[in-house]
Amino acid sequence: MKGGLMAALSENVLTVNMLLSVFFLPGIYANSCGWRTPLVFITTPKPTAALNGSCLNVPCSFTAEKGSKEFDSSKETRGAWIKDGNDIYNINNGVKTNLVNITGNLSQKNCTSLFSDINKIQAGKYFLRIENGGYKGTACSDPLQITVE
Ligand SMILES: *[C@@H]1O[C@H](CO)[C@@H](O)[C@H](O)[C@H]1NC(C)=O
Ligand SMILES: *[C@@H]1O[C@H](CO)[C@@H](O)[C@H](O)[C@H]1NC(C)=O
Ligand SMILES: *[C@@H]1O[C@H](CO)[C@@H](O)[C@H](O)[C@H]1NC(C)=O
Ligand SMILES: *[C@@H]1O[C@H](CO)[C@@H](O)[C@H](O)[C@H]1NC(C)=O
Repeated sequence: MKGGLMAALSENVLTVNMLLSVFFLPGIYANSCGWRTPLVFITTPKPTAALNGSCLNVPCSFTAEKGSKEFDSSKETRGAWIKDGNDIYNINNGVKTNLVNITGNLSQKNCTSLFSDINKIQAGKYFLRIENGGYKGTACSDPLQITVE
């Protein structure tokens, strides 16, 4: 009995989720921010094309709007590029440093980055995640797009 009820409930939830996805996903998730207000915005050359097997230096800067906290240049800043398809709000999902190094000084909002070993797998969208003291933000509305030729 109980199991049957639970199954019926979860089925309903599933149906609701499916309906929500069908009717609302295209609108709400037009970019990767969902319900979040983007705070961090990057400026990079667009689009960014690289040759297979090469390195790619991407000049990059960003702005950091005030959220519940303010970006503070005197504090240490951590950053990571998180590839599309992963949770872009978790800095631990960043691409490993053997594939990309952020060479710019993030405290000065310089996110210049060196990608190495470019191959087809590296093509895609990358989101910059910034953590500066209590300030945290992901450039969810403007990913870096890398294409590989
Ligand atoms: C890209 O380069 C890698 C080696 O860096 C090579 O193994 C691969 O075949 C190349 N792919 C294409 C499509 O050229
Ligand atoms: C990034 O830095 C690490 C450690 O210094 C190094 O091993 C790696 O090759 C570098 N990667 C790139 C893409 O330059
Ligand atoms: C950003 O950092 C890179 C790498 O260190 C440097 O070459 C570039 O001049 C810096 N850009 C600015 C605007 O400071
Ligand atoms: C990065 O910039 C900050 C703020 O201007 C400065 O305090 C820090 O020394 C710089 N770090 C490096 C490694 O140059």
